[in-house]
Amino acid sequence: MTKLYCATGNAGKLREFRMAAESAQVEIELLPGFKQLPAALEDGATFEENAIKKALHYAPHAAGKLFADDSGLEVAALGGAPGVYSARFSGPHATDDANNRLLLKKLHGAANRKARFVCAIALVEGERVVEVFHGAVDGMILDEPRGSGGFGYDPLFYCPAFGCTFGEATGEQKFSLSHRGQAVRAMLASL
Ligand code: IMP
Repeated sequence: MTKLYCATGNAGKLREFRMAAESAQVEIELLPGFKQLPAALEDGATFEENAIKKALHYAPHAAGKLFADDSGLEVAALGGAPGVYSARFSGPHATDDANNRLLLKKLHGAANRKARFVCAIALVEGERVVEVFHGAVDGMILDEPRGSGGFGYDPLFYCPAFGCTFGEATGEQKFSLSHRGQAVRAMLASL
């Protein structure tokens, strides 16, 4: 069975990655000692740049191929923000709740609620970037959260194809359509 190491501190993401791997006969293992390693600097201007930076930062600690993702929410009425700053939207010690509250505050009264989740996954081996995979999904930001599933901005992200938010969808449902699901499936198909 092919084994890939994953560099993420986000339990929600790891859960989603493993969901895809199960059916693809690939084992996804959190990089051993990940939490003890110094964090990667995420100062890139794009999701792709940050995903590559993260993956190359952790690759020397992996005995084989490793991947890292960078993802976030782009909101049309905010000119694409929070974008690469999605995790830290409300400050350096941001929580999902605080980020969601700030998003609602900034969108208060806005008629244009269009948003999209974007994901880039960089697969690397040692110092070599094997490939970068992409995914994106369009939706709308509601004016109050709905559902408690998923993580991050999921309870505010209304997915027209489901008729509910990602927070109300099951994990499998979300992953069948999500930005991360698209990118992971592309990566697994490339192996
Ligand atoms: P990253 O760890 O730098 O990639 O941060 C991604 C951030 O974007 C997360 O902390 C969330 O705030 C947001 N985000 C990315 N993907 C999702 C998703 O699938 N659902 C909800 N929020 C997401």
